[in-house]
Amino acid sequence: MTRHVEKNIHAWTSKEDQEHFRSLIDEHDALVMGTGTYDIAKTSIRHKPKKLRIVLTHHPERYKNQEIKNQLEFHTLSPSELVSMLTDRGHKKLLVVGGGRMITEFLRDGLVDFLYITVEPKIFGTGNPMIATEDLDIELQLIKNAVLNKQGTILLEYKTK
Ligand SMILES: NC(=O)c1ccc[n+]([C@@H]2O[C@H](COP(=O)([O-])OP(=O)(O)OC[C@H]3O[C@@H](n4cnc5c(N)ncnc54)[C@H](OP(=O)(O)O)[C@@H]3O)[C@@H](O)[C@H]2O)c1
Repeated sequence: MTRHVEKNIHAWTSKEDQEHFRSLIDEHDALVMGTGTYDIAKTSIRHKPKKLRIVLTHHPERYKNQEIKNQLEFHTLSPSELVSMLTDRGHKKLLVVGGGRMITEFLRDGLVDFLYITVEPKIFGTGNPMIATEDLDIELQLIKNAVLNKQGTILLEYKTK
C-alpha cells in the first residue's frame, strides 16, 4: 500500500520491514513488479547475475534501453504466462513485489503459495491498497507471526490453502 499520493513507501516503512524485504529478495531467484514500483525502486536496485527482475508493462518498448538480459526485463504477459516462461528458463522461486493490482492478479489466478504482510502501526486513510477492488474469496492459513520492533511492526506470513 502507499501513503496518500506519495509513491515511495520507504519514506514510512520501518527499517525492520526493509530488512525483511531484502531477505525475501535474497531467497528468490526471480522478482516481478509493476511499472510504478519499478520507477520508484530503479535507482536503488543492485543488479547481479542469477537474479532476474521482470517488470510487467503494456509498453515494453519504452524501457528497451534499460534492459539487462537475464537480470532486468520488461514484458507484457499474464501472470500464468510469466510463470510458464520462468519455469521454462529454470527459475524456481518468484517474488511478486507489487503493487496492489499485480498482487490481486496473481492471487486471483491461484499462483501464490505464501503471502508476507507487514502491519506498520500507522493509519493513513488514503493511498493505494494492497489488494485492488475486486471480488475475491481466498482462504489463508497463518504460519508465522513476529513483532519486529518496539513500536509494534508485525510481520504475518500466510500460506494459501
Ligand atoms: N507497500 C508495499 O509493500 C508496496 C509494494 C509494491 C508497490 N507499492 C507501491 O504501489 C504503487 C503502485 O505500484 P505499481 O504501479 O507497480 O502497481 P500495479 O498497480 O500493480 O501495477 C500497475 C502497472 O503495472 C503494469 N502491469 C501490471 N500487471 C500487468 C500485466 N499483467 N501485464 C502488463 N502490465 C502490467 C502496468 O504498467 P503499464 O502502465 O506500463 O502498462 C500497470 O499500469 C507504487 O507507488 C509502489 O511504490 C507498495
